[in-house]
Amino acid sequence: MVNTSMAGVKKPRCRSAKPEDALEIFAVLVEVACEIPVCIKDDDREKVIEKIQAQVGMRKSLVATDAMGRIVALLLVEPRAAGNKLVLDGEPQPAGLNLLYGGVTKSWRGKHIFPAMIDKMKRRGLPLFAAVRHDNKGHMAERLIKLGFEKVGTLFEEDKFRWLPNQGAER
Ligand SMILES: CC(C)(COP(=O)(O)OP(=O)(O)OC[C@H]1O[C@@H](n2cnc3c(N)ncnc32)[C@H](O)[C@@H]1OP(=O)(O)O)[C@@H](O)C(=O)NCCC(=O)NCCS
Repeated sequence: MVNTSMAGVKKPRCRSAKPEDALEIFAVLVEVACEIPVCIKDDDREKVIEKIQAQVGMRKSLVATDAMGRIVALLLVEPRAAGNKLVLDGEPQPAGLNLLYGGVTKSWRGKHIFPAMIDKMKRRGLPLFAAVRHDNKGHMAERLIKLGFEKVGTLFEEDKFRWLPNQGAER
């Protein structure tokens, strides 16, 4: 759906996240946290920001920025070692990237920013893994399926998803 109030506004630019982005990323994460859902307590602020700095320091995570360079979306990832299983009694998996958190600020939703970030992540050519809580409010499980991920199982309160390069699962 096109938000007419945003018509003519320049499309956000997707780029690798940097440690200097940590505070802005934190602000977006706080905005979307209750929909993921994830609980970020006030007392945890410094700890979470440090964790974000470490994650983006690996240069694999993405952010989208508006025309002013403000961060409007995030896709936080971390490397995943080969051999880890996705579900109990499951097959060991190849090395790849774990998608930790994805989010778009409310005023920028419905503009395909998240699918564009996933596409950019796929172009890195690494297997992608994601866990989606059953109480996620962003329809993330359905979205990932639409984006070519396969559901490989369920563990505790989360569905596990995987996308492998070269398996004909591009959008
Ligand atoms: C989920 C979220 C990241 C989506 O970001 P977005 O940039 O607004 O994504 P868009 O809605 O523009 O994506 C559009 C695409 O999603 C599809 N889509 C929309 N709702 C859908 C649904 N319920 N099920 C499946 N696909 C859906 C659209 O059909 C469209 O795909 P198409 O172009 O192939 O038709 C955003 O809503 C958000 O930040 N939510 C809160 C945080 C969250 O839940 N994060 C996920 C867990 S970490």
